[in-house]
Amino acid sequence: MIRAAIDNNSGIIVVRELTKRYDERLVLDNVSVAIEKGKTTVIIGRSGCGKTVLMKHMIVLERPSSGEVYFKGQRIDHLSEKQLAEIRRQYGFCFQMSALFDSLTVYENIIFPIQQKQKITDWKAMDELVKGKLAMVGMDGFQQQYPASLSGGQKKRVALARAIALDPEVIMYDEPTTGLDPVRSDIINELILKLKHELHVTSIVVTHDMNSAYKIADRIIMFHNGKIIADGDAEHIRNHPNPTVQEFIHGKVSEAELAALRLGGTRYNTQYSPEDFK
Ligand SMILES: Nc1ncnc2c1ncn2[C@@H]1O[C@H](COP(=O)(O)OP(=O)(O)O)[C@@H](O)[C@H]1O
Ligand SMILES: [Mg+2]
Repeated sequence: MIRAAIDNNSGIIVVRELTKRYDERLVLDNVSVAIEKGKTTVIIGRSGCGKTVLMKHMIVLERPSSGEVYFKGQRIDHLSEKQLAEIRRQYGFCFQMSALFDSLTVYENIIFPIQQKQKITDWKAMDELVKGKLAMVGMDGFQQQYPASLSGGQKKRVALARAIALDPEVIMYDEPTTGLDPVRSDIINELILKLKHELHVTSIVVTHDMNSAYKIADRIIMFHNGKIIADGDAEHIRNHPNPTVQEFIHGKVSEAELAALRLGGTRYNTQYSPEDFK
């Protein structure tokens, strides 16, 4: 086995020999990875393979069963929740679970993380800040609307504006294009690229949308059975020799799964062949 030479300062976020078990179920199996500052790292892999769990460890929303997590050279996996709150302010989150608050306006949603940190006294400055963040995602003018009146794509853009409210160094996106049509997905891709270029943020994106991955990634990491099975730029992933990588990026069912599908019940030999899935 090749073990990557990673030191704790080799990336803005460093995960070392991370293993995560839920009861007896092994989800992350001795994973080591360094996330490069200012780059966009995309994590791909099948549903349930541990992408979200890995991302949560990067900000210690989950604690490792074993292994270590570092942020800017500082070990963070054993910090208290209070200490972590400070660290987490340097991150912006666009998670499925961190949807907008329906009872708050767009404006109130965006200032929410700021209010968590400090009492707001200068409302004029706040108006400017909200305007600037919304303009960044093309949503200035929507301040007084409620999330219910926005489309799915608009909600994601507002969530992104909220994620950058505190000028984070790292933005984490969990499935940012899921549920959006191709055009709206591409708007999100463009915004991820724009925020990288204009704010110089480090982006970590979990997705199973390969179009999105190819477009935004400096680096693509593929996960399978709790381990990294491919790691490189889009070109590297496209040409990867591992059949599991090829099946995933082309959305194909593997031969083993086809065999399993054929088991049980009535089997009609003529019903399908592997070619039908290509
Ligand atoms: N809090 C938890 N408790 C128990 N199992 C969990 C928990 N969070 C995630 N898992 C399990 O870990 C596996 C990986 O989950 P996840 O990282 O969410 O997958 P994905 O790659 O789709 O993001 C899944 O089997 C999931 O059921
Ligand atoms: Mg997930």
